[in-house]
Amino acid sequence: MTNILAINGAYRHHGMTDQTVEILKQAIEAAGGTVEVIHLREHPVEFCLNCRECTQLPGDTPGHCVLEDGMQELIDKIERADGYILASPTNCGSTTALFKRFMERLVVYAYWPWGMNGPQLRKARGPRKKAVLVSSCAAPGILGRYFFATRKQLTLTAKTLGADTVGVLFTGLIGKEPSPKITARLQTRIQKSVAKLI
Ligand SMILES: Cc1cc2nc3c(=O)[nH]c(=O)nc-3n(C[C@H](O)[C@H](O)[C@H](O)COP(=O)(O)O)c2cc1C
Repeated sequence: MTNILAINGAYRHHGMTDQTVEILKQAIEAAGGTVEVIHLREHPVEFCLNCRECTQLPGDTPGHCVLEDGMQELIDKIERADGYILASPTNCGSTTALFKRFMERLVVYAYWPWGMNGPQLRKARGPRKKAVLVSSCAAPGILGRYFFATRKQLTLTAKTLGADTVGVLFTGLIGKEPSPKITARLQTRIQKSVAKLI
């Protein structure tokens, strides 16, 4: 059975991101997989201290963070999962600050001892997992996909976790109504993504 972890950086309850993640969840469960959804807005994750304590020792397991919050529990879930849904609205041209804060804490997935210029991702080699990326924006979807930083940031997050991106669900033109609804076209794209994910 495929065990998927969804990490959602949306602030808004039942917005486009929540709805897309929920439909992905239902479709994966209908196909026999399991999904746990982590709403970062409800999960205690502090800001990274940039101390790099967690990056000093080599190896492919995540380093140990000095902060005692909900991040270790999240890392344990990430390690156990077979694949990921990584979701964030596009705010000010990038993922939300909520998602970015989580993303920075993934520095535990880097080996970067003092004296080395840049980080090496611990999961750059070895077995691959799969990820589907979810975002939305007020601009047309094509612009959102290629001109905002969100897609790159979600792709980097997947790569950091040792996952290849198998689907991108980037919905545009959703800023006109207070309660945007999933279209039939997006439903079809969601089903196609699920087939690639599990
Ligand atoms: C503070 C803020 C910043 C935003 N920045 C952008 C932006 O840079 N580009 C864009 O196309 N849409 C932008 N939007 C629109 C959001 O992308 C859109 O409301 C969001 O995708 C909704 O996601 P949700 O329904 O999951 O809450 C912004 C919205 C807010 C509130």
